[in-house]
Amino acid sequence: MATITCERITKRYGGVVAVDALDLTIRHGEFMVLLGPSGCGKTTTLNMIAGLEEISEGRLLFDDKDVTWQPPHKREVAMVFQSYALYPNKTVRENIAFPLQLRRTPREEITRAVTEVAEQLEIGHLLDRRPSQLSGGQRQRVALGRAIVRKPSVFLMDEPLSNLDATLRLSMRSLIKHLHHRLRATFVYVTHDQAEAMTLADRIAVMKGGLVQQLDTPEGIYARPANTFVAAFLGSPQINLVQGEIAPDGSFARGAFRLALPPGAAQPGRAVTLGLRPEDVGTLAPGLARLEARVDLVSPLGSETHLEVVAGDDVKLTLRVPKEWRAQEGQVIAVGVDPARLHLFDATTDARL
Ligand SMILES: Nc1ncnc2c1ncn2[C@@H]1O[C@H](COP(=O)(O)OP(=O)(O)OP(=O)(O)O)[C@@H](O)[C@H]1O
Ligand SMILES: [Mg+2]
Repeated sequence: MATITCERITKRYGGVVAVDALDLTIRHGEFMVLLGPSGCGKTTTLNMIAGLEEISEGRLLFDDKDVTWQPPHKREVAMVFQSYALYPNKTVRENIAFPLQLRRTPREEITRAVTEVAEQLEIGHLLDRRPSQLSGGQRQRVALGRAIVRKPSVFLMDEPLSNLDATLRLSMRSLIKHLHHRLRATFVYVTHDQAEAMTLADRIAVMKGGLVQQLDTPEGIYARPANTFVAAFLGSPQINLVQGEIAPDGSFARGAFRLALPPGAAQPGRAVTLGLRPEDVGTLAPGLARLEARVDLVSPLGSETHLEVVAGDDVKLTLRVPKEWRAQEGQVIAVGVDPARLHLFDATTDARL
């Protein structure tokens, strides 16, 4: 009941183009994440969908209905912000009930709805407290409760977890995911946290400079990044990006560094950027390309080990290897790389080949 269609929506602040002719369709019931660095236009996009920012150009549709000029309260959306924006003088119960009171919902119905939502969010025991008597995570749950109670068909969330500590963030993240499964509403969720985006999204729109760089499932974006920006934005540790060219034999070359590529990957002589995810290395085996490197730094993390290595003359790489590997600093190791898992980008446009 709520597909959101952005048709070339643009937002200009004087000379600044915050969002640049954005085309984006968010399907009914989908969890869409807008992901990108600070200033890329995520909040502006969300605010235009909510009706909190005027759209400079383009059209916004909810299903088939043009809502470009519709005021926020007429759009069936609920917003959850980074700052909880609770009413300090109201109790938790009154905060959650407020949107229903505005709608003049009968009292018994409000009581029932508030009880149900509080149970879902496990804040039933806090209903008589005021926001100042709650922890950050509890406040965020109250803010969620206030959004849920209206049973909107669209949830818009702007970095709702960024004020929470790491542990709370994880538990709130799974709470939001459960909520989406249960409510089956359309979610548009803004974050600059790639892990949040990967775990929550049905699809991710990666943004930069007011433009969508890539729109795909988390798996699709990770496996086939459209350009070096997207490749570097997702994945931790970051993907290794190495500038070089295609050698006459079709392998990737940078000085003394060589790495076999799938046959016909690109024309010999072409300037390219090679992408190698740190985890895409393993023990040497038939069919794998050989990568030899000197270990510079070993960082054991318990569950796995990160190695900083130097290959060829000057190619610095980060590798993620099993914790059982006992690599020593200064040692030369040889690892196997599946050529099919390598990424190639045009050196000039940065676009995927
Ligand atoms: N009221 C305004 N006046 C002028 N420029 C603005 C205004 N609001 C936002 N901008 C600019 O528009 C661009 C996009 O801002 P936006 O808030 O959408 O970014 P964001 O992706 O949400 O970033 P963050 O992760 O830091 O919240 C930025 O360059 C910002 O400086
Ligand atoms: Mg923002």
